[in-house]
Amino acid sequence: MSLRSKLPSTASVVVQSGDGRLSAPAAEKNAGPITKLVEEFAPDKGLALEIASGTGQHIVKLAVVKPNLNWQPSDIDPIRIASIETWCKDYNLANVRPPIILNATEIGWSSKFTSQKFIFLVNLFHLISEDEATILISEISAALAPGGRSIIYGPFKRNNKLTSAGDQTFHHSLIEADPQIGYKNDAWMTAKFKEEKLGLLKVVPMPANNLAFVCEKLGM
Ligand SMILES: C[S@@+](CC[C@H](N)C(=O)[O-])C[C@H]1O[C@@H](n2cnc3c(N)ncnc32)[C@H](O)[C@@H]1O
Repeated sequence: MSLRSKLPSTASVVVQSGDGRLSAPAAEKNAGPITKLVEEFAPDKGLALEIASGTGQHIVKLAVVKPNLNWQPSDIDPIRIASIETWCKDYNLANVRPPIILNATEIGWSSKFTSQKFIFLVNLFHLISEDEATILISEISAALAPGGRSIIYGPFKRNNKLTSAGDQTFHHSLIEADPQIGYKNDAWMTAKFKEEKLGLLKVVPMPANNLAFVCEKLGM
């Protein structure tokens, strides 16, 4: 399983500048609410992994509000890795490691990322299949230390329904490009968390009709 090439252009809109930096208007827009969410629910210290860091616009802000978390950005795409490097160079944060390539839907990646206190993921579940999503939740759980937390943010169905016109258009454009992908249902996510020993602490409604699942690894 690798980077999907058949996504609609709306799946990830980015602006390029000459130095490798990418800027996503959506990432800029949701950075404030996302930062507040992490400030409230993430632990204060330990290892923190961001999956699918994208441009790198989020992690530089998160590392400021959680200065004692040791942040590891990652993405599957080398072009995104170059962008994350550029953003991180500007912010010059001592608590952010150099970004690494990580395919989060590959079985077994958690063995290289054990004892994480926090795993953060924004806007990936709708871009992968249910089988890949199952692997991803299982690997997140395996990578977390007992009592470690994860926040998974993105667009989801509620009670199997697409709840806005924008969500209907976006979901249908995704499944037209690739019938295996598209919005996952909230109850499906909840059932997977339970199977993988992730306690669901809270589901937080976020701007633009997104949801954030806040989970904690059981077994302290
Ligand atoms: C819509 S963007 C979201 C980026 C960022 N989290 C944000 O919200 O701005 C989706 C990101 O997921 C990455 N991605 C896609 N498939 C992946 C996979 N299997 N493992 C890790 N990252 C993946 C893409 O390269 C892209 O950076």
